[in-house]
Amino acid sequence: MKRVAVFTSGGDAPGMNACIRAVVRGAVYHGVEVFGIRRGYNGMINGDIFQMTSHSVSNIVQRGGTILKSARSREFMTPEGRKKAYEQLQKFGIEGLIAIGGNGTFTGATIFFDEFGIPTVGAPGTIDNDLYGTDHTIGFDTAVNTALEAIDKIRDTADSHDRIFFIEVMGRDSGYIAIQSGIAGGAELVMVPEVLTPISEVVETLKQGWDRQKSSSIIVVAEGDEEGNATEVAEKISRQVGTEVDMRVTTLGHIQRGGIPTAYDRILASRLGLGALEGLLNGQKNVMAGVVNNELVYTPFRDTIRLPKPINEDLLRMVKILSV
Ligand code: F6P
Repeated sequence: MKRVAVFTSGGDAPGMNACIRAVVRGAVYHGVEVFGIRRGYNGMINGDIFQMTSHSVSNIVQRGGTILKSARSREFMTPEGRKKAYEQLQKFGIEGLIAIGGNGTFTGATIFFDEFGIPTVGAPGTIDNDLYGTDHTIGFDTAVNTALEAIDKIRDTADSHDRIFFIEVMGRDSGYIAIQSGIAGGAELVMVPEVLTPISEVVETLKQGWDRQKSSSIIVVAEGDEEGNATEVAEKISRQVGTEVDMRVTTLGHIQRGGIPTAYDRILASRLGLGALEGLLNGQKNVMAGVVNNELVYTPFRDTIRLPKPINEDLLRMVKILSV
């Protein structure tokens, strides 16, 4: 393989730049020409493709976002869109792809291979940490630390005013960000999509806290929780405990996607970028590079897409024990 291309796709994540850097510098090291594709699959379709050198990735290891920009492409979901993308890759002589993204990205890459035979190796780039085949995804650690910083600040004001705060964190259908930031922030309860926490249990926890003279509480709610988003959860609680209980809701939102990547994310992203590139050069295809138990592993896209990544329920139990 003499020419490869790298792109970022789906929601951006801190550390994606460190991953791009590793792909590009790895390609230079192995004497392979490397191209960047802007705006994910949209850029592939539109031919927004350019040659990269070692210099193209100078001074980006510490930057959040993605220098290649990102998008969720509707056009790539159509056979016509994928044909255009293939023609563009042919034009540039690109023989293999490194895709930095999540499940949607890998699903697209799998269909693309079936239709046109272009191999892809993926690197897991999403704050959600929802991909089977890696202990952590690129951006997750930074997102957790961003959420934690917010929780710590909210704790100050919650305590000053004797208030209950419902803090909504991202994660789509996954509770990883909620559980990690909740434990580190000393939350009284963490609500995640993987395990139902009924409203009655939230009320019970709050009441037990009041019995112990606890005046402020923090409940971290993952955005995909079955009881609803943080606003809906707060409304349900309010109906049960009465409006005289002082409650506020904070939705952290996209702040969790930005910012300087942590050291952990930069190192993980560097490992996965180089691992994905070297996998591709060694003949791997339709697999995602991941780190499991500190070992670099390759997992077929069909498994990263299909298999669930369960959260550790023991951690939820721990939140309850430690909030007493
Ligand atoms: O997948 C990353 C993520 O930030 C999720 O946590 C969230 O549900 C979603 O993307 C938000 O997507 P968008 O930026 O398109 O609103």
